[in-house]
Amino acid sequence: EKVVLAYSGGLDTTAVIPWLKENYDYDVVCCCVNVGQGNEIDGLQERAKLSGAEKLYILDVVDEFCDEYVAPCVQANATYENEYLLGTSMARPLIAKKLVEIARKEGAVAVCHGATGKGNDQVRFELAFKALAPDLKIIAPWRCNETWNMKSREDEIEYCKKHGINLPFSSVDNSYSRDRNLWHISHEGLELEDPSQAPNYDHLLVLGVSPEKAPDVATEISISFEKGIPVALNGKEMKYSEIVTELNKIGGANGIGIVDIVENRVVGMKSRGVYETPGGTILMAAHKQLEELILDRDSMAFKKTVDNRFADIVYEGKWFTPLCDSLRAYIKASQEYVTGTANLKLYKGNIIKQGTTSPYSLYNESIASFATGDMYDHHDAEGFINLFGLSLKVRAMKLAEAEKK
Ligand code: ARG
Ligand code: SIN
Repeated sequence: EKVVLAYSGGLDTTAVIPWLKENYDYDVVCCCVNVGQGNEIDGLQERAKLSGAEKLYILDVVDEFCDEYVAPCVQANATYENEYLLGTSMARPLIAKKLVEIARKEGAVAVCHGATGKGNDQVRFELAFKALAPDLKIIAPWRCNETWNMKSREDEIEYCKKHGINLPFSSVDNSYSRDRNLWHISHEGLELEDPSQAPNYDHLLVLGVSPEKAPDVATEISISFEKGIPVALNGKEMKYSEIVTELNKIGGANGIGIVDIVENRVVGMKSRGVYETPGGTILMAAHKQLEELILDRDSMAFKKTVDNRFADIVYEGKWFTPLCDSLRAYIKASQEYVTGTANLKLYKGNIIKQGTTSPYSLYNESIASFATGDMYDHHDAEGFINLFGLSLKVRAMKLAEAEKK
């Protein structure tokens, strides 16, 4: 019998391979889903084989990640607790989906992931597995206290050695716990575990620099959208993943998109993390800038509540649920006219608007201008305010009357 393991090539998921063989007697099929984590992919094939895996799949899903997962999140301006751009959260359902596809192809009976028992990722993986493949057994080694007794990197290296796996893993790793993909990188651990401590940005940042270290000269860019999908950067047509890649470079260099947040995990605890989402932060700012011009007042207000709910759902790992499907349908429909170009300037961590254009702009200069045209009659406002404020006036009169008695 076979198990499909979500494999990154790191020490944690490597140690899972001999553990699965020892405790379940499964053949281990590793699956590394490339969502844009970059050079972490190099040398993986060899490493998986040396670690006792029967097979390793490396799946490049960067474009699918952008088109099916990043895109709806941008259209929804999705942030968790107002700040976190959901980079880890939005990748988990796709990784789970690919694992299930491989499990079907291989006729596997189980799937396995290396998330800890304390975090959100276990929830996201497993909700997706349950929704997509209710028959597959789910194995989470980190929650198996009786058999998984590795507490440190040394323990894991020792365990691997005992099973004949000698890989050049270093036992000291004074690095953060990180998760990277095309959209972002997250950092947890070390000094961040004490919320009273300032983050050590010199040590921590991977995708860019802090605002203080950014150039003294601003960078001007323009991003064009069609129906809420970015299609061009500085007038040059590019696919989604290329736009994000390019914006990551430009944004990182200008100190954009660094978030330091104590967030509420699904499993009840607060946790402190730093996120770098340089490109995503710019993309969402540009998208919002465009929506300002295009969405009518009611749509905008309603969409904001949908956006917030959608962000919570993504964070909680409920991607493959009826509610998430319906909200995505609404969000997509809301973008019908979100077409146009946002110009912006990047300067030391700031994004400064430089003008917006759209063929569907609802902004009408002759109505809004102080030198007003003939579509807006000031006298209409008087009657409107009389009715709009009628209930206030009635109540104030009533209170005054009652006071006198
Ligand atoms: N706290 C973030 C989230 O829940 C980031 C999790 C990072 N995951 C990881 N395996 N390092 O989405
Ligand atoms: C983990 O616990 O595996 C990482 C953190 C998280 O999932 O929130």
